[in-house]
Amino acid sequence: MVAMVRSGDLLHTLRRIRRKLVIYFRYRHFGNLRRVRERYLQLMLGCLTGSIYEDPPLKALGSDTFDAKLREYGWDWPSVAHSMIGRRRMGNLRDLAEEVLFNRVPGDFIETGVWRGGACIYLRAILEAYGVRDRRVWAADSFEGLPPPDPAYPADAGDTFHTYTELAVPIEAVKRNFEKYGLLDEQVAFLKGWFKDTLPGAPTGPLAILRMDGDMYESTMDALTHLYDRVSQGGYVIVDDYRVVEGCRKAVDEFRAMRNIMDEIIEIDGVGIFWQKTA
Ligand SMILES: C[S@@+](CC[C@H](N)C(=O)[O-])C[C@H]1O[C@@H](n2cnc3c(N)ncnc32)[C@H](O)[C@@H]1O
Repeated sequence: MVAMVRSGDLLHTLRRIRRKLVIYFRYRHFGNLRRVRERYLQLMLGCLTGSIYEDPPLKALGSDTFDAKLREYGWDWPSVAHSMIGRRRMGNLRDLAEEVLFNRVPGDFIETGVWRGGACIYLRAILEAYGVRDRRVWAADSFEGLPPPDPAYPADAGDTFHTYTELAVPIEAVKRNFEKYGLLDEQVAFLKGWFKDTLPGAPTGPLAILRMDGDMYESTMDALTHLYDRVSQGGYVIVDDYRVVEGCRKAVDEFRAMRNIMDEIIEIDGVGIFWQKTA
């Protein structure tokens, strides 16, 4: 398992280097454009994760003092920033989004579990930075927080995420957040409601990126069940909480076993993982 993860990491690093070289050679005559795009996406990452403003975390998880290391790994819930996934997982999202753009993997991007919208805003910013007009970003959420545990899913028994009002962000607030960056337009679509109700008939078409951040067994399993088959070959499946939420990991492991998915799991930051769908 460890060896598999390491070879996957190495492969991914080599792909990143190759991608950087491709970007360099493709845009070497557009040096200024490349530099400005890089600065824009770095700036967006800093704003969306709050690492620029160093906003203190919400007290829900303990400390209320900004700590750069916690924000790097997404271990706190920011009081102001528009995403809680931290710099590493946000950077990973950019890497994979760029990868599918360069490899022309068909499909839209979706996140299931958007909170204040930060990761989706970053995806829309990436499309903007590359002038992509034929893909959409889908933001799926109840916009009311997490569901109480359903007895049908014993893995969620005792889960208390639904009691945190901090996790309930109304859709109007999320749309306003997109607007603040000038990124609310027809390339952004919202799926409001519980995943079990909104995902089965969601009018998405193929997906190049499926990012799951619903924390619970039920939320993760619903996303996999209704969206996995829409992910294009060569697209990416990202699981935000795989290493920290037992129910989430169980849903992913069960789904992979059930569908005989052998694609290598690659670590992001000790919390999130992803794999590339090869078949
Ligand atoms: C951890 S937050 C997502 C963080 C976000 N990705 C970010 O960039 O900061 C989890 C979100 O998932 C949503 N959620 C979890 N389970 C859900 C479900 N079954 N149906 C709809 N929304 C759900 C919650 O409302 C919440 O906004």
